[in-house]
Amino acid sequence: MASEKSKILVIGGTGYMGGFIVEASAKSRNPTFVLVREASLSDPVKWKTIQSFKDLGVTILHGDLNDHESLVKAIKQVDAVISTVGHMQILNQTKIISAMKETGNVKRFLPCEFGSDVDRTSAHEPAKSYFAGKVEIRRAIEAEGVPYTYVVNNCSTAFYLRTLAQFQSGLTSPPRDKVTILGDGNAKAVFNNEEDTASYTIMAVNDERTLNKILYINPPKNILSMNEIVTLWEKKIGKPLEKTYLSEEQIFKSIEEAPVPINILLSINHAVFVKGDQTSFTIEPSFGVEASELFPDVKYTTVEEYLSQLE
Ligand SMILES: NC(=O)c1ccc[n+]([C@@H]2O[C@H](COP(=O)([O-])OP(=O)(O)OC[C@H]3O[C@@H](n4cnc5c(N)ncnc54)[C@H](OP(=O)(O)O)[C@@H]3O)[C@@H](O)[C@H]2O)c1
Repeated sequence: MASEKSKILVIGGTGYMGGFIVEASAKSRNPTFVLVREASLSDPVKWKTIQSFKDLGVTILHGDLNDHESLVKAIKQVDAVISTVGHMQILNQTKIISAMKETGNVKRFLPCEFGSDVDRTSAHEPAKSYFAGKVEIRRAIEAEGVPYTYVVNNCSTAFYLRTLAQFQSGLTSPPRDKVTILGDGNAKAVFNNEEDTASYTIMAVNDERTLNKILYINPPKNILSMNEIVTLWEKKIGKPLEKTYLSEEQIFKSIEEAPVPINILLSINHAVFVKGDQTSFTIEPSFGVEASELFPDVKYTTVEEYLSQLE
């Protein structure tokens, strides 16, 4: 089953995570389709992305989450649907579920997840409400009996570690003088290179072991605390960083003061790096499978290898 190919539709392919997913799908020779909004065609950056998809043999379909007919037309052509829509469109995915119910042909739906396990989180607001939207979509999928896989890739390596999670700093590379660490820095989190997440996701589409399961991507070498990551980076650059540890009270204050969506990111980071959400439970076979165990042949990129690229 794992070597079979599926026709895969990506909704949200022109976005950050979507780009990696489309590329992995096309490169692994699954006939790949992307639903693109007309408006994106006039955006020069998106246009370039769309051209690169076409170069990989991807079929571009025009449509919109809010245009039911376009969704039905696109979904009819494929076996599996992956959604990577943005944070404002999470609840609109009920429209994808309705269209799939109408067409009745989809063997696997991977809704927009690609983060922490939203059913196992201690997040405070505003992350709590954001995660609640993803939970609502999970429950709608299950209630409608749509075959699913929820991809929990935890922290995307480049997204987080390009700046060592200094989201408010305006940095575009990791800090070389000082770093702010949430809490005591000892909670373990999980990191996955974006390309690896995309590869595991595409392998999961055709794999019966991931049917109606959460696919956790928890590669053992990439389960690290922020203190461990900072130490790795200090070794790379050959000098210690000045560290500021933020108490929960200070974190809540900065969440309150930050604009959207930085406040959501900060509050996700509180759940991940202070409460240890990503490593606070055991993956039970009744609800989950782990990607690096299922697909041991994938040579995933370690955090250490990623940081070496940034030295
Ligand atoms: N784990 C991590 O560290 C991490 C990091 C980043 C993201 N994520 C997760 O990845 C997921 C996707 O986020 P993202 O940042 O990749 O999103 P994004 O870059 O904002 O992309 C959103 C996509 O949705 C499309 N879209 C928006 N409105 C639409 C509509 N009405 N109809 C059809 N398509 C529409 C956009 O199309 P246009 O191009 O036309 O606007 C774009 O392709 C989220 O669940 C997020 O939490 C996780």
